[in-house]
Amino acid sequence: MRDIIIIGHKAMTSGDFSLNDLPGSAGRMDILCRCVSSALFLSFGMRRDVNVHLLLLGEPEPGKIIRFEGLHLRYLNPDERSSGSLISKALLKNTTELDTRSTPGVWIRKGDLKSLLASFEGRTLLYLREDGKDIREIAGEIRNPVFILGDHTGVTEEEEKQLLEAGAQIISVGPISLHSNHCITLIHNELDRVEAERGEIPGGENSGTEE
Ligand SMILES: C[S@@+](CC[C@H](N)C(=O)[O-])C[C@H]1O[C@@H](n2cnc3c(N)ncnc32)[C@H](O)[C@@H]1O
Repeated sequence: MRDIIIIGHKAMTSGDFSLNDLPGSAGRMDILCRCVSSALFLSFGMRRDVNVHLLLLGEPEPGKIIRFEGLHLRYLNPDERSSGSLISKALLKNTTELDTRSTPGVWIRKGDLKSLLASFEGRTLLYLREDGKDIREIAGEIRNPVFILGDHTGVTEEEEKQLLEAGAQIISVGPISLHSNHCITLIHNELDRVEAERGEIPGGENSGTEE
């Protein structure tokens, strides 16, 4: 299982934003929409072993978490408007600290980074930062990871403190600062290569039956 958290500091927490203006009126929701798509879509299918957690910290009710579960997800297309529409539908639900299902595979609840990290106790937390340890040095050892990424403003000092207190390792996908969704593609690629090498991906290297 791969879980991916993206922190949206300005992302709106009410569902009445315009799908025609995801960057502006929705508080850079376009970034989160692209992350959903990069995290979940394959060329002809969906990564069923991936969950995406969008931490929305914008107005009017900062602190909502929307979860996309690859295993159960329906009605999602790769374009930004499609994920934007599912996010908007989820935000129109009455939200409490408990999970509420919005559409198949999409859940919403109130929460902050601390509560979200606490829900992953025992998992490997990997915080993406440009100057972190090269993912290639540890890709072979990564099992059951939870990746955490910032938005266009990165990750705040307080969030970073919480991440480190929760035991997160800092990893990098390369020396240059990239868009969050591009980082997700690179993470998947590194782990896919390792899994293919181990014969864990159908069609990957060593996946055939060997005598
Ligand atoms: C557009 S970047 C943030 C840039 C922002 N100006 C800053 O200074 O933090 C968005 C997120 O992508 C991740 N990221 C970008 N490039 C990365 C890299 N080369 N390695 C690891 N993570 C990266 C980080 O999690 C970052 O918070």
